[in-house]
Order: sequence, then C-alpha cells, then structure tokens
Amino acid sequence: MKFLKLAVTLLFCLSLSGTFAQTKKPANKASSKTSAVVAKSSGQVVYEQNCLTCHQTNGSGVPNLNPPLRATDWILGDKTRLINVVLKGLQGKEIEGDMYDNAMPAHDFLTDEQIADVLSYIRSSFGNKASAITAEEVKTTRSAN
Ligand code: HEC
Repeated sequence: MKFLKLAVTLLFCLSLSGTFAQTKKPANKASSKTSAVVAKSSGQVVYEQNCLTCHQTNGSGVPNLNPPLRATDWILGDKTRLINVVLKGLQGKEIEGDMYDNAMPAHDFLTDEQIADVLSYIRSSFGNKASAITAEEVKTTRSAN
C-alpha cells in the first residue's frame, strides 16, 4: 500500500512537471516571434544610438547646425573619406554649399563592424541607394590613419 502511494505521488509529480514544460515552450516561441517582427538592422541601432540626435530620424539634419544625410557627395562619394568622417569627426567644411555651426565628434570608439553597418544603413536609407561598406574596408582605413 505504501509503495502504491509513493508511485502515485511520483506519477503526479512527473505529470505536473510535464505540464509546466509544455506551457513554457509555446510561450518561448511566441516571444521569439515578436522580437523577430520588431527587429531592426544593426546599422539602424548604431544610428539611433550615435547619430540620430544630430542628423535626425529621417536624415534631414538641422538647418545651420547639422547637415542632412541625403545624397551628399560625402555619403555617395569616396568611401575612405566617408569612413574617416565617422572615425575622426568633421568640422568647418562646406557641405553641398552650406556651412554648419556644430562639429561632428569622432566616433572611433565604434567597432569596424558597427561603422560598416551604420554607413551601409545611411547609404541605403533616406533615399540613398549606394553599395554597402564592409568591416574590412573600415579596418583598412583605420589602420592607414
Ligand atoms: C553632435 C552632432 C553629431 C553627431 C552625434 C553625428 N554627427 Fe555627423 N555631422 C555633424 C556635423 C555638424 C557635420 C558637419 C561638419 C562640418 O561642418 O564640417 C557632420 C557631418 C557628417 C557627414 C558628412 C556630411 C554629410 O552630411 O554627408 C556624415 C556622412 C555624417 N556626419 C555621418 C554621421 C554618422 C554616421 C554619425 C553617427 C555614427 C554621426 N554623423 C554623428 C554632426 C554630428
């Protein structure tokens, strides 16, 4: 009789843990699905954390303060020069005929991958349609400085 009680308790526990395991699984699936839907490209994340305050969500910039990131020669032109804007910062330059009062700070604390991602993001956003920039290209430019 004692043995039977023990066996029943054991079975009950097993079925309970089984129920828990089952209810856990679908919950996990659901949450990973939602995060996939809202996932942003890593370039956009770097942009939002490091560039957005000055260049704005839509890349419009702020008149007289920060230049727009739309179809400027700096973005679509020479890749090395563009990579160096992020690595070294920029100030006092004429951009598409306009001058800007703010200075762009150096962002050399970002990794090669982050700089490649954010530049690829701006080169394919805000109406821009230029090729991606690779982490290798950033690495080469950084080591040549
Ligand atoms: C504190 C404000 C500020 C932040 C933050 C900032 N910039 Fe700038 N950026 C500027 C200013 C101001 C200039 C123009 C400098 C000049 O007048 O010479 C500029 C110039 C540029 C240019 C070249 C000109 C153009 O409009 O095409 C690019 C490209 C650029 N920034 C990209 C970025 C990226 C990418 C980031 C984030 C990693 C970033 N900036 C963060 C203020 C900022």
